[in-house]
Amino acid sequence: EFKEDTVIVVFGASGDLAKKKTFPALFGLYREGFLSKSTKIIGYARTKLTNEELRERLKPFFKTPTEESKKLVDEFLKLCSYISGQYDAPDGYQELNSVIEKHDESRGVSESHRLFYLALPPSVFTTVAANLKKYAHPGKKGIARIIIEKPFGHDLESAQALQKELAPLWTEEELYRIDHYLGKEMVKNLVPFRFANNFLSACWNNNFIRSIQISFKEPFGTEGRGGYFDSIGIIRDVMQNHLFQVLTLLMMERPVSFDAEAVRDEKVHLLKSIKPFDKKNVLVGQYTKSEDGTKPGYLDDETVDPKSKCVTFACLTLEVDNERWQGVPVILRAGKALNDGKVEIRVQFRENSNGMFKDINRNELVIRVQPDEAMYMKMNTKVPGINTGIAVTELDLSYKSRYSHFYIPEAYESLIRDCLRGDHSNFVRDDELDISWALFTPLLNYLEGPDAPTPEPYAYGSRGPAGLREYLTKNGYVYQDRSIYQWPVTTPD
Ligand code: BG6
Repeated sequence: EFKEDTVIVVFGASGDLAKKKTFPALFGLYREGFLSKSTKIIGYARTKLTNEELRERLKPFFKTPTEESKKLVDEFLKLCSYISGQYDAPDGYQELNSVIEKHDESRGVSESHRLFYLALPPSVFTTVAANLKKYAHPGKKGIARIIIEKPFGHDLESAQALQKELAPLWTEEELYRIDHYLGKEMVKNLVPFRFANNFLSACWNNNFIRSIQISFKEPFGTEGRGGYFDSIGIIRDVMQNHLFQVLTLLMMERPVSFDAEAVRDEKVHLLKSIKPFDKKNVLVGQYTKSEDGTKPGYLDDETVDPKSKCVTFACLTLEVDNERWQGVPVILRAGKALNDGKVEIRVQFRENSNGMFKDINRNELVIRVQPDEAMYMKMNTKVPGINTGIAVTELDLSYKSRYSHFYIPEAYESLIRDCLRGDHSNFVRDDELDISWALFTPLLNYLEGPDAPTPEPYAYGSRGPAGLREYLTKNGYVYQDRSIYQWPVTTPD
């Protein structure tokens, strides 16, 4: 475990990700007492900035819920300094190394602990990783870890090429591939929820479960990121990584222990059981102007090719071909510029096939990852009172009311802390990447090839393409009768 005197270096320190996520996460850890006062944080980027200028840039993004925490901002910023340097020349790295060495010396540190966080575009990943290894790795005199951010490749071939370049430089032990969904509270809760509840284990299979849906909805479009998004699309952006991570934790077998390798072994087993996707059974969409005309369509972005078939909404259905899950459709659904911002898992149980209650609603377990973490189980119960009818109600665990006094860390806080503790469980292993890219690449090639279907248009702010309901129904998801059931939510899913 990294303890006192760790040096954390944030590459790409002048960029958006560092400003909005990495530094605020480091501040969050400091605020909550998880980062020692002797930690040194160095921002590194090409932009010329003084220490003061960096601090001023970072400040507005810190969360300070209490008066106490406001006082910590300056204290924290004093731990942060800045080095301006190139990514592809040795000087900056040499300077970085000597700053770290001096810091270690001044504190009488015998073993240098260094964490390098690469908040960088993939085009410079390997250059920086190589230079760091060469000029700023403590070798036998300490421990170094490196965190890299997605995208880990663009398809199977490029992902494997990236692996090949990184592997000789940084060992799997030193390398932390971040997928920030793995740091979200409800995603971290999947393993305990599934395996610490015996009644669930008994029915967590195709005898009882009829369909699974994992959905990601965002209420905003690609505003300002169109140029970047156009070559990526929603499938690469959130499905191949974030939703797939959720899927593996939701459906894998029980790991033999809590050990990071044991957990990741099970994830890999599950991934290996997924059948190749049926390209014909996908629903793809692209958003157009909002109905009231106030929000732009995807193609209105000047940085986007006006003929672009880029997918901003996608639904696909897959099957896990093992004894537990055979025959259970798993729908992945993701879209930008929709009516709502929400990430949810919906597990629908089989209905009674005969007998007195054969026409009532399915039980449905909903795990809401965000916003407002919650789990609720839709149950059929007698309408209270003289009425003898059956109605759906819910067993409801809403974190806001049940756990109001708990601090739930931001995903990045949680993951950086894991990395400081040397825990790989919530990071992506190289073989996970191989398998998921092998599954997604043929689909992406089809959607981006000469026979690509034209994405169905949907208005910015709508629920998605018109064919959505039919698609979900066809693939095993049953909409419940809302006249008798409506959980206290404001918008339909
Ligand atoms: C990122 C995607 O990985 O995840 C973004 O690149 C997306 O397009 C984001 O908006 C969603 O993350 P979160 O934590 O806001 O759900």
